[in-house]
Amino acid sequence: MTALFITFEGGDGSGKSTQAKLLTDWLEGLGNTVVRSREPGGTDVGVEIREIVLHHRGDISPRAEALLYAADRAQHIGTKVRPALARGEIVIQDRYLDSSVAYQGAGRVLGAGEVRDLSLWAAEGLLPDLTILLDLDETVARGRLDADNKRFDRLEAEKNDFHGRVREAFLELALAEPDRFLVLDASFPVETLADSIRSKVAEILALRA
Ligand code: TYD
Repeated sequence: MTALFITFEGGDGSGKSTQAKLLTDWLEGLGNTVVRSREPGGTDVGVEIREIVLHHRGDISPRAEALLYAADRAQHIGTKVRPALARGEIVIQDRYLDSSVAYQGAGRVLGAGEVRDLSLWAAEGLLPDLTILLDLDETVARGRLDADNKRFDRLEAEKNDFHGRVREAFLELALAEPDRFLVLDASFPVETLADSIRSKVAEILALRA
């Protein structure tokens, strides 16, 4: 069994959950044990934190928000992700520390470096083996979210220029760590994207075999 930590990143509406599910099904079909999770909200404590960060009415100060995501992360990585990796399982996760850097950093109050350091402290330094960035123009992403017709959370309700900054931040993160990131154009068809993701993961698994 090969322990592997894979994260999906990208703006809201970029198709992360769809691709995470397809990858999970494929890996399970090959006989792997996969833990599928997400942040915020991958644990019981995290579900409560998720409700605050996404649906609290009224302002949350930028530092408080960053600490809430970090608290969710500390609980999630410490009690769920690390134990799964220690058992040799594959963890596939929607969003991780890159989301904190991109979103909390995009508010222009907190610096990317300090947000990243906070996350790394919370997660005791754990970095993914692979991060798949589903890159999508923020206006197209917004169109997809509107079509979904579900309740907007606090961040989804932010203006387009905020989401434009988030997108730029993700792309910068990917440029800074090309070995960890696979960047895909999320406007491609679901199956094309799934194929590219499977090829990349197969490559990593072959190297580890
Ligand atoms: P997500 O679970 O992808 O929302 P949805 O249920 O709509 O798919 O993410 C929820 C929001 O949390 C998303 O707008 C991004 C934000 N977020 C941060 O701002 N910082 C973080 O560290 C994380 C993990 C998420």
